[in-house]
Amino acid sequence: MDRLKDKVVLITGAASGIGRASAELFAEEGASIVVADIDGPGAESVASGIRGRGGRAFAVAGDVSVGADASRMVEETVGRFGRIDVLFSNAGIPSVAGSIVELSEEEWDRTIDVNLKGTYLLSKAAVPHMMAQAGGVILVTGSEQGYVADPQTPAYNAAKSGLHGLMRSMALNLVRHNIRVNAVCPGITDTPLLQREVDTSPDPEATRRSYAAWAPIGRMAAPREIAQVAAFLASDAASFVVGAAWLVDGGYTAL
Ligand SMILES: NC(=O)c1ccc[n+]([C@@H]2O[C@H](COP(=O)([O-])OP(=O)(O)OC[C@H]3O[C@@H](n4cnc5c(N)ncnc54)[C@H](O)[C@@H]3O)[C@@H](O)[C@H]2O)c1
Repeated sequence: MDRLKDKVVLITGAASGIGRASAELFAEEGASIVVADIDGPGAESVASGIRGRGGRAFAVAGDVSVGADASRMVEETVGRFGRIDVLFSNAGIPSVAGSIVELSEEEWDRTIDVNLKGTYLLSKAAVPHMMAQAGGVILVTGSEQGYVADPQTPAYNAAKSGLHGLMRSMALNLVRHNIRVNAVCPGITDTPLLQREVDTSPDPEATRRSYAAWAPIGRMAAPREIAQVAAFLASDAASFVVGAAWLVDGGYTAL
């Protein structure tokens, strides 16, 4: 399919998990991809895999929570490919499980900086280019945890709820510039992030079983199932989707 033919797409957190699956699927759909990640070698490996299959991609290493890095990701996209049609602000981190009393100030700051501030910094850098080219798409990776809460992840819940709010405000402000802003909101998805949580839990086998039973569908999502919805939201087929936090959660929030 050619849902993203000739689009230039910057994806953050694209060395792994949902971002990687999206980079690979978006390339199959005809897009030129900038694979941005704090893990430089991982980003390069995804980009060279795409090039090896005949696609157009290059890697940028950087931290989305640092203004200079976020700007550089956008500027290198425009410098190399001439424009930026889609910013997919996907990079995110979990927070260490615990109550608000156990949560350190450093952990709070890092969780908010990567999961929330990163999208502000990237959008601030990308929007002037999108305005100059009379349109674009900003897609963020929200979460079912922006809708519901977990008693053990206050910082992550705050970051993802805040991200949904930021997304809606930007959507309302930018729609008149033909810039559509939306969120794809995964439920439990079987990525390296999730696997690290399983591996570091007291009983990994039981944790994996409980994640598999989490949603009514009775299994975790594959990263590509989230990428498929992201590709739709990034494409012109979603031309009337504005300010939506689009759940892809196997029915969890319908419970
Ligand atoms: N896996 C899930 O169950 C799940 C559920 C809901 C939402 N999400 C969200 O999906 C997104 C992707 O998660 P994933 O499960 O694919 O995780 P992952 O750990 O597999 O991939 C995340 C990628 O982001 C990169 N990254 C982390 N911090 C960064 C930073 N400061 N700057 C640039 N890159 C950075 C990592 O190096 C990694 O390559 C995150 O926003 C996460 O919160 C995941």
